[in-house]
Amino acid sequence: MSIIVAGPPSKMLAYSTAKLSSLECIDVSTKRFPDGEIKITIDDASKLEDKHVIIIHSTNPPVNDNLIQLLLILGKVREHTSKITIVIPYLSYARQDREFLKGESVSINHISNILDVFLPRRIITIDIHSQLALSYLRRCVNLTAVPLLAEWFKGKDVIVVSPDIGGRERAELFASFLKSKVVVLPKYRDRVTGEVKIDEDSSILNEVEGREVIIVDDMISTGASIIKASSVIKNRCKEIYTTCTHALLLNNAYEKIIDAGVRDIIATNTIENIASKVDVSPLISNAIKE
Ligand code: R5P
Repeated sequence: MSIIVAGPPSKMLAYSTAKLSSLECIDVSTKRFPDGEIKITIDDASKLEDKHVIIIHSTNPPVNDNLIQLLLILGKVREHTSKITIVIPYLSYARQDREFLKGESVSINHISNILDVFLPRRIITIDIHSQLALSYLRRCVNLTAVPLLAEWFKGKDVIVVSPDIGGRERAELFASFLKSKVVVLPKYRDRVTGEVKIDEDSSILNEVEGREVIIVDDMISTGASIIKASSVIKNRCKEIYTTCTHALLLNNAYEKIIDAGVRDIIATNTIENIASKVDVSPLISNAIKE
């Protein structure tokens, strides 16, 4: 018998998944102490006894608080059962998947080791940042919300833009549902300053001339990549939409992106906010049935 535990960052998603799966869902409450420590309480913890427990909990910002919260929930759940599935719709630290600069930590590897302490039977993520990040996670299934995002734009005649080479495969998958062409922007990020640059003279940009464009990415964090991409194409194309799985939307990114000329931002509810218009609970519900 399975039961869902609703991690506080993903409460609505956990409840809608539970409803679709006809499973019971229980809450976690949190308390913060003056020194920043967090305490979690599962009032109905006795219901977890020897059940298959599915924890649904994104680690969106504040990433470290939400990550610690997840570890505390895992610890508490482990007192009652060894049958645990962790659904982490947005897994932070996945962008730290390699030693970009000498001496940097491959943080996703360490996060994976920490999650493993609780011996989960399975970890489920959605559109994790890269295959390399995925390779560090043991017993992990990565789902994709790209077909659901494409469904939102069904019937549109558009050019699909990937803001960088790393996103080409995702953009191509998205474009395949709309039977659209893909343009990959020649972007790179300065690893020391973090500054994003795009070669504005590239002839590839002619492809967007007079067209409706959808910029596809895995995530929007500060919005810098999307703002940069739209600044390069906005005077050439007719209209710009942007879509991603995980909209972190830090530092007023939503407003800044709209101000930069993007008509709308369509994201999923792996992170619950103003842009989460596409529901991934059917995806999770299917995966936890298996
Ligand atoms: C980069 O490799 C990612 O796919 C995203 O493009 C990037 O992380 C988004 O971050 P920001 O919104 O801060 O540019």
